[in-house]
Amino acid sequence: MTILITGGAGFIGSHVVRLFVESYPNYNIFNLDNLTYAGNLENLKDIESKSNYTFIKGDITDEVFIDGLFKEHRFDSVIHLAAESHVDRSITDPLAFVKTNVIGTMVLLNAFKNAWKDNFNNKLFYHISTDEVYGTLGEKGLFTETTSYDPNSPYSASKASSDHFVRAYGETYGIPYVITNCSNNYGQNQFPEKLIPLFINNIINNKPLPVYGDGNYTRDWLYVIDHARAIDLVFHKGAIGETYNIGGFNEWKNIDLVKLLCQQMDEKLNRLKGSSEKLITYVKDRPGHDLRYAIDASKINKELDWKPSVTFEEGLSITIDWYLNNEEWLNNVTSGEYQKYYQKQYN
Ligand code: NAD
Ligand code: TYD
Repeated sequence: MTILITGGAGFIGSHVVRLFVESYPNYNIFNLDNLTYAGNLENLKDIESKSNYTFIKGDITDEVFIDGLFKEHRFDSVIHLAAESHVDRSITDPLAFVKTNVIGTMVLLNAFKNAWKDNFNNKLFYHISTDEVYGTLGEKGLFTETTSYDPNSPYSASKASSDHFVRAYGETYGIPYVITNCSNNYGQNQFPEKLIPLFINNIINNKPLPVYGDGNYTRDWLYVIDHARAIDLVFHKGAIGETYNIGGFNEWKNIDLVKLLCQQMDEKLNRLKGSSEKLITYVKDRPGHDLRYAIDASKINKELDWKPSVTFEEGLSITIDWYLNNEEWLNNVTSGEYQKYYQKQYN
């Protein structure tokens, strides 16, 4: 089997690539990524010389290039993770999100359709999406697979649009597809613009922790390797044409999460209890900020017997240790362009 994984140099993609390369020596794994600020081949140093792994640098929005790639390699399956993924960036540059997330997905769908024409036997287009397409919840309730789409940010609108196109290609052209909508991921190799790695980096450097609004926004958090395990299961056992929600059964208000992070960091850095909490700074809220995301993951739990393997406290501790032990990785990704982004976003 020849599998194309897009966005494999990014945060989640690198964990998926590693899991597939290591677990399935008989599969040929191609990682296609154009290495934006979020793509980093250092994430895959440990597996880059494996014989079943190939990296290709390229842009999913480049139609001619992508068509050629499908003709050359005849990918049986696609696991599509490449995307612009940060809500705050989508607020300052929404068009970049339409280009990559909507047009890029369309280009891949067309190439997949043209490569296999009407003979889709044993083929699969697996689209990785987010719970943010469902919009926001109030204090109660959970997102299920039948919750209506109601996206509020340019990021979630672009992901919702791509989900709709995948489903439409299934209905119209018979493409065998599966979609998963996952909650917030955390873990090693996450670019430090998202809440958890940003705050770890700021605590290390004794910089303010910019909590948006009153900090009473709620997210469901899942350890990235548990997401990769779920993707492996859905890829092999998921039903064609189905959607699965993936979540951590693990809701946290931002401010409570930040306080837990501060406590763990104080202990690990041997700092005085309470010193990291002093860095908390309430800043201007994100426009269109969704109040609460929470996932009902009972379908994947019951049908595919998946559940998270670590508690949040354990996963967070492993994550902090990784960032503390990988200072060079952190320094490399926080130099240059990142500094400009940080000044613009938080000043
Ligand atoms: P990420 O930003 O860390 O990585 C995205 C990767 O895609 C990068 O390696 C980047 O170089 C690549 N990429 C971007 N534009 C590209 C293009 N035009 N052509 C080729 N490659 C391109 O993102 P992530 O957090 O790993 O998210 C991966 C996927 O999972 C996304 O589709 C995202 O919507 C989804 N998702 C993320 C989360 C989360 O919490 N991070 C949760 C649910 C779903
Ligand atoms: P983020 O990691 O950007 O993920 P998402 O917006 O996709 O959920 O943000 C998680 C939560 O943390 C969200 O409610 C916004 C909040 N947040 C802050 O309070 N400060 C920050 O600097 C960032 C990046 C996020």
